[in-house]
Amino acid sequence: MGLLALLTLAGKGPICCPLTPVRIRTAYIDEVARGSRQVKRGGGKIHHNALFAQMIAADQRRRSVCGGVGEIGVHHGHFFIALAHTACACDSMFAADVFGAQHLNVDHSGRGDKAKFLSNIAKFGLNSSLITLFEGSSLNLRKPPWQLRLLSIDGGHTDRITTNDLVWFLENAHPTGVAILDDYDNSGWPDVKTAVDRLIREGKVFPFLYVGPDHSKLFVASTMHAAAHYSELLAAYAVSSPQLNNSAIPTLQVAGISIHKVLQTGDARAPLVRWAKEWKGWVQHRDMVC
Ligand SMILES: C[S@@+](CC[C@H](N)C(=O)[O-])C[C@H]1O[C@@H](n2cnc3c(N)ncnc32)[C@H](O)[C@@H]1O
Repeated sequence: MGLLALLTLAGKGPICCPLTPVRIRTAYIDEVARGSRQVKRGGGKIHHNALFAQMIAADQRRRSVCGGVGEIGVHHGHFFIALAHTACACDSMFAADVFGAQHLNVDHSGRGDKAKFLSNIAKFGLNSSLITLFEGSSLNLRKPPWQLRLLSIDGGHTDRITTNDLVWFLENAHPTGVAILDDYDNSGWPDVKTAVDRLIREGKVFPFLYVGPDHSKLFVASTMHAAAHYSELLAAYAVSSPQLNNSAIPTLQVAGISIHKVLQTGDARAPLVRWAKEWKGWVQHRDMVC
């Protein structure tokens, strides 16, 4: 009897292996660690955020969760590639951007470029025919045929668009689903915090991790149960992580809720490279290597 059958009999469900080979996924981490020379950044540095996204995806896979993974506001694909590299055959990859229709980019948050996006994802092993590409404003997103398990929200940064994107996530999320909101407390985009905090206070969305202070991202779950689960996962990880001083993670109050706060160790190259090394370790050893 094969391993797959044994695990299925043991009630663990079938293993689903990442679509992109480990070799290509680690090549992308090297690209990020070198300063993203090939795939231009449209936002902040992703070394630590990609590591946390990888941890969440690995946890979802261990629990046989399949669903949509992707980003609203892909620009040239910088963070999208890291997210899509967590996808396996049972998942659906999704990318949205106004691309050439920049008149729809009402707050001028970067200029997405479809040709560069397609070229970059191909360079890092992603097959565009497997990606649902939505070209247009996220205000016009429809119900997808799958539930979202991991979504980065980094398109329009107004109150209206952030609320729209987060509500779209909530209406279509898997019960274990996580959304990662870019620029949560960036003073250049104050509407993001206004919109997100409102939905938190209304009890619709549940934060569990803040990564900042520069180019900050807030990780939120679609259910209170999922937020508590990921919070515990991070707490357990912290005590084994030199990046997190092998100790409890500090906390931060977000709209009245106490969540984990991870501060970047600055923009200097060396500390960020150590985060990338940790991310690579997850991809090479702690994720399911198939
Ligand atoms: C800050 S950039 C995203 C950076 C990207 N996440 C990265 O990792 O490099 C914002 C992107 O959102 C796109 N955008 C702006 N408004 C949008 C909207 N209403 N719907 C979809 N995309 C939008 C822009 O074209 C731009 O590419």
